[in-house]
Amino acid sequence: MVTGGLGYIGSQTILELIRSGEYEPIAVDSCVRSNPETLGRLEAISGRKIKHYLTDICDKENFFRIFEEEKNIAAIIHFAAFKSVPESVEIPLEYYRNNLGSLENVLEACTKYSVKQLIFSSSCSIYGDVEKLPVDESTPVGTPFCPYAHTKQIGEQMLRFYADIHPETKYIALRYFNPIGADMSGKTGEEPKDAPNNLLPIMTQVASGQRECLSVFGTDYDTRDGSCIRDYIHVADIADAHVKALQYLEKEPNAPVFDAINLGSGNGVSVLEMIEAFDRITGVKLNVKRTGRRAGDVPAIYSNSTKAHTLLGWHCRHNLDDMISSAWKWEQERIR
Ligand code: UD1
Repeated sequence: MVTGGLGYIGSQTILELIRSGEYEPIAVDSCVRSNPETLGRLEAISGRKIKHYLTDICDKENFFRIFEEEKNIAAIIHFAAFKSVPESVEIPLEYYRNNLGSLENVLEACTKYSVKQLIFSSSCSIYGDVEKLPVDESTPVGTPFCPYAHTKQIGEQMLRFYADIHPETKYIALRYFNPIGADMSGKTGEEPKDAPNNLLPIMTQVASGQRECLSVFGTDYDTRDGSCIRDYIHVADIADAHVKALQYLEKEPNAPVFDAINLGSGNGVSVLEMIEAFDRITGVKLNVKRTGRRAGDVPAIYSNSTKAHTLLGWHCRHNLDDMISSAWKWEQERIR
């Protein structure tokens, strides 16, 4: 079961699960933040019928009904959550209610319906403003800079405490750095319902004329070119890591009951470097304006992903060119 299965990373994970040839994913999505048409696109790309339940997983009764119907759900990959940093500052209670209420139901379902594996969508934002780079999993969890990051911190804690009393399920939190890009087919990808606030979706909107210009939030940071540094990673690589996490739990009976694993490329790329790469790869020169810092941004963060390499046997297959070219291809397909 993939909750949030029609969302950005969930839908890509459905594709990678099918591509692995080992799984039969079921999508569950309320579509409050995703597009129901994604299902048809996934079916066209995979050439397979995909089961989907239009259900809000915060609604326990309806959510549990799916388990009664499906009977033998082996694993849950739990993506369904709100994920906008600025929005979480504006409506914090809705973030706590939605992101934590859904997780409560997911955990209860794992026990009630004997689900053996749970993979939880976490985020590098749990680390806050780090002192030492790159960030590995021994880096202490920092002060949360927004309610979104706080829900991910609490979510991981819920998993830890729950794992203590319910070790019959295994739990992995995957901490994503900055997932970007689209399926390499260019036929599906991110589809923000409201105006996006992440860098690459804004870049593709500027390039396609839907927005006037891109603001560079801060060029006075203590980084190599003054702009913020992030660890961008192709969404298909993130999705593939979920497949590898399930395979790992299956073949490692001695895996810890709870584990947390970083997913990043390990490369720090600055905002100005992203702009330069975008211009080079797409041939479109972005209209750029340098503005002040965005509140809550950390100057630099990138991952040490050795744990994912060793435990999961996972490595990134896509580079920055793939990330940008696939996102650009998808944007053009989307607005056609
Ligand atoms: C943050 C979180 C990430 C979370 C994501 C959800 C961190 C380190 N990362 O990503 O875990 O999943 O939010 O949204 O906390 N930028 C501009 N102009 C723009 C937009 C962005 O210059 O118009 C810059 C930002 O200042 C930042 C970089 O681009 O330096 C990436 O921004 P964004 O895509 O929003 O991701 P994060 O804030 O890094």
